[in-house]
Amino acid sequence: MSNLLLVEDETRMREVIKMLLSDLPLNIFEACDGAEALDIFNSETIQMVITDLKLPKIGGMDVLKQIKDVKPEVPVIVITAFGSIDNAVEAIHQGAFDYVTKPFTEDKLRSCVKKAMEISRLTSEVQYLRREIEGKYAFNNIVGNSCEICEILRLAGEVSHRDTTVLITGESGTGKELLSRATHINSARSKRPFLPVNCAAIPAPLLEAELFGHEKGAFTGAHQLKKGKFELAAGGTLFLDEIGDMQLDVQAKFLRVLESKSIERLGGHRTIATDVRIIAATNKDLEKMVSEGKFREDLYYRISVFPIRIPPLRERRDDIPLLSQYFINEFSTTFGRRPPIMSDRVMEMLYNHPWKGNIRELRNVLERAMILTKGDQITARHVILHESHGKPLGELNLDQIVELLIREHRIGLEDMEKKYIQYAMEISSNNVSKAARLLGLSRATLRYRLDKM
Ligand SMILES: Nc1ncnc2c1ncn2[C@@H]1O[C@H](COP(=O)(O)OP(=O)(O)OP(=O)(O)O)[C@@H](O)[C@H]1O
Ligand SMILES: [Mg+2]
Repeated sequence: MSNLLLVEDETRMREVIKMLLSDLPLNIFEACDGAEALDIFNSETIQMVITDLKLPKIGGMDVLKQIKDVKPEVPVIVITAFGSIDNAVEAIHQGAFDYVTKPFTEDKLRSCVKKAMEISRLTSEVQYLRREIEGKYAFNNIVGNSCEICEILRLAGEVSHRDTTVLITGESGTGKELLSRATHINSARSKRPFLPVNCAAIPAPLLEAELFGHEKGAFTGAHQLKKGKFELAAGGTLFLDEIGDMQLDVQAKFLRVLESKSIERLGGHRTIATDVRIIAATNKDLEKMVSEGKFREDLYYRISVFPIRIPPLRERRDDIPLLSQYFINEFSTTFGRRPPIMSDRVMEMLYNHPWKGNIRELRNVLERAMILTKGDQITARHVILHESHGKPLGELNLDQIVELLIREHRIGLEDMEKKYIQYAMEISSNNVSKAARLLGLSRATLRYRLDKM
């Protein structure tokens, strides 16, 4: 049901309109003059308005203006008298959605109202999605309580409302994209687009077309004019992800655009002014690339005005408990269950893991653990930590596994033996003979060790 406000001083006319719209899902509020209309508009959640222009007290044009001042997104249909086309033009100029001329046909009124209902539905959907996105990418969704993350949030908070170019560096999975989105959401540009371009995923010639656009016929296959991301992001933020992978010739063009604040589409001669804020990100060492001649020095200085480095997770292990709890809560909500508790052993494993894939890896490990956990406790059995020597655990040989256990997990011999026996017992449902077979021991030896434990 949508709430419609119908403003009309003639009772008979109101009745006719109500009858014509009676089968639409509308809840109709009625007002017989402009003052009453504004009272209702300000006290109820009105999604659309139909107003006559000729009204006692406050005229329809003023009602329209005041509504547009407060809630420009609400569609207003005006009813004008036959022959007063000037009024209709003026109303459209003031932001009216459409107009109908008295006497109107049933079809005209109904199609106009249906269109307005659709617009109003889409508008509220957009508002809802925008709130969702803003919530998801606000700074308070960047979790962590280490000194490092607090300092990053302070820096990002300071720079967000300026138009300064920001360069975010950090290993894969450290949260570079999350931080850029939050920076955009907290800037004055938040109502305009945030457009990501992945410089690594697009081959050089296409990347130019993607960034700067092209005219029709600029090259074979350019069947029609295409605006580039610089134009599409107007008023907003362009997020250049993996900027370290941008080819040198594209770098040169990009630098010119940054300096002149204008672009030319490929195959075009017209200069188009740009209005975008640039946030760039990379997991490469740009300074090293500069010294190797792989990244332009002048471009580097231009984009590194405000660098923010996100350290890898292993350099801010203090964030691990909070992040883990955050992801467990997140997946519990998704799976619709009570958040399980992490055993101390799990906490210790998570704390000590090298996290080469950083927060993305932690999130994945916990998602898997949540799927494997049936009860209300996540135990070591549920936590599968891959990646060591850059390889999945299944591909390591015994020596590498021993090295991993001793060096990375710091597990001593006694603990190891205990774990080995516990695990064998667990998967043999506490049948000592079965467990002994698995461990290559006699039943008596296992019994003895179990007693010792
Ligand atoms: N501080 C954090 N709090 C909560 N979630 C985080 C945090 N940092 C990263 N994440 C989550 O980790 C995942 C990886 O983050 P993101 O994609 O921003 O990393 P990235 O640095 O851009 O990685 P890549 O270099 O691989 O593109 C995302 O799911 C993101 O939401
Ligand atoms: Mg990324």
